[in-house]
Amino acid sequence: MSTKVTWFGHAALGLETGGFNLLVDPFLTGNPVCSISPEECEADFILLSHGHGDHLGDTVAIAKRTDATVITNAELSGWMDKQGVKSHAQHLGGGYNHPFGYLKLTLAIHGSGLPDGSYGGNPAGFLLTTQDGKKIYMACDTGLFGDMALIGEEGIDLAVLPIGDNYTMGPDDALRAVKMLEPAEVIPIHYDTFDVIAQDPNQWAQRVESETNAKVHVLEPGESVTV
Ligand code: NI
Ligand code: MN
Repeated sequence: MSTKVTWFGHAALGLETGGFNLLVDPFLTGNPVCSISPEECEADFILLSHGHGDHLGDTVAIAKRTDATVITNAELSGWMDKQGVKSHAQHLGGGYNHPFGYLKLTLAIHGSGLPDGSYGGNPAGFLLTTQDGKKIYMACDTGLFGDMALIGEEGIDLAVLPIGDNYTMGPDDALRAVKMLEPAEVIPIHYDTFDVIAQDPNQWAQRVESETNAKVHVLEPGESVTV
């Protein structure tokens, strides 16, 4: 059994794991680098890290079409209730045994306001332990923080990290994150969607691979890594 992680562009991910389809932060409509349409994606669960429009994206429409459960913080879960969408509320530091694996919400240094002005609670990252024991850390939108070292102590097989700068960690801090997390493999995301987060992911990959033991996968939207 393995887990297939597909990058759809920006921060949107698809995970096929344990017989379930997971979407993470499905901003597809209006995403200039997106590889799929919200009408064609499959979802049993949608993981929503925070309320910003470039993460919330098509969450409500996809959840209604697919009957997916949205897993997110308590505040965003309450907002999903008002939209008529099924959700499972967790909070930072808390994990739960879902049918697809054990999912823990992690710290993220960022904001979480919703596009309609509603309070979105604190933003989160995700640490997934798959059914076959693989650890996948999705930092989501965050600045660098020292407690990434604690997350790294769990033994990370794959880390998905923002490198775009301006709104999140940039290349220098994302490299420092890799040094704390010590993942076996890394996927950079949250860059090149807009001019303000333009980066050279291949140059970043060279730096990471020369200064750490991590293998970097620079993906085109729609490409996958299997762990
Ligand atoms: Ni954000
Ligand atoms: Mn973002």
